Amino acid sequence: MKLLVTGGAGFIGSAVVRLAVAQGYSVVNLDALTYAACLENVASVADSPLYAFEQADISDRAALDRIFGDHQPNAVMHLAAESHVDRSIDGPGAFIQTNVTGTYTLLEAARAYWQRAGKPEGFRFHHISTDEVFGSLGPTGQFTETTPYDPRSPYSASKAASDHLVRAWGETYGLPIILTNCSNNYGPFHFPEKLVPIVILKALAGQPIPVYGDGANVRDWLYVEDHADALLTVLTRGTLGRSYNIGGENEVSNLELVKMICALLDDRHTSGAPHADLITFVADRPGHDQRYAIDPTRIRTELGWQPSVTVEEGLARTVDWYLANEDWWRELQNRQGVGQRLGTV
Ligand SMILES: NC(=O)c1ccc[n+]([C@@H]2O[C@H](COP(=O)([O-])OP(=O)(O)OC[C@H]3O[C@@H](n4cnc5c(N)ncnc54)[C@H](O)[C@@H]3O)[C@@H](O)[C@H]2O)c1
Repeated sequence: MKLLVTGGAGFIGSAVVRLAVAQGYSVVNLDALTYAACLENVASVADSPLYAFEQADISDRAALDRIFGDHQPNAVMHLAAESHVDRSIDGPGAFIQTNVTGTYTLLEAARAYWQRAGKPEGFRFHHISTDEVFGSLGPTGQFTETTPYDPRSPYSASKAASDHLVRAWGETYGLPIILTNCSNNYGPFHFPEKLVPIVILKALAGQPIPVYGDGANVRDWLYVEDHADALLTVLTRGTLGRSYNIGGENEVSNLELVKMICALLDDRHTSGAPHADLITFVADRPGHDQRYAIDPTRIRTELGWQPSVTVEEGLARTVDWYLANEDWWRELQNRQGVGQRLGTV
């Protein structure tokens, strides 16, 4: 089986590429190599005969037509996106272009390819989305697959739009689609503008660790390798036309999460303990969603999938990975906007 993975040089896409190749799938990694990409993330599979790379933008229809024609994939796993909420506040245009127009262009290219091939039954267009499309929860409740969409940031609105497009292409054209909406990921190769790597790297540098608002915002944290495993499970065993929520069953407030990371660094005897003394509360993100929580019943009961790692185990692995991979993150810290406060309006 050959997979066309978009965004495979990013954080989650690269975990999918590494796992898929390890499981014996042929993989074509299609990525525009934006600021968020890093081909080092897939260096471990780059020489595999199962792996191919195509640098292309998902808004470039001619490039997509050529890539579909050359590689003849059996499925698309669509992860390419602009993904950072703070950047979406400062510059929503790129999010509309890639997440909405790009997804539309990819759907059209996939539809044309699938029709030309005689509409093979096994073909799948798997759209990877976020739980942020469902909006913000109060202290109780969880998102199910039928929770109404209520996106509140330019990022989540653009992802919601892309979800609607994918469903429409399924209903209108019969394109064999499947969707997943996932909670916050963390783990190795996480780009150093997102919360978990920021905390680790600020703490290691002995610099203030920024916590937005009062740190009470709650997220359901999922280890990225569990997410990749869930995605391949849904792709191969999920019911056509359906969506699956994927969560880590690990609800933690931002402040608790930061304190857990600080404690892990203290345990590893890195200089500067106690690192929690570096915690600094900063102005909140505008429109900051209070709480996300996933009801994982569907993926658990229909597909027998559940996360393998608790947040304690996953964070320990992640901290150890960052301690062992300074060459990887040092270079990325020089990229535009990294390390700066973004999205304050
Ligand atoms: N990170 C999370 O916690 C999370 C949670 C749920 C869902 N998601 C979704 O998962 C997907 C991957 O997220 P991530 O955190 O790995 O993102 P990321 O920002 O780390 O990687 C995105 C990748 O897409 C590529 N890309 C961006 N624009 C492109 C374009 N126009 N054409 C081709 N490639 C392009 C980038 O070069 C990059 O390699 C996204 O769709 C995101 O919405 C992320």
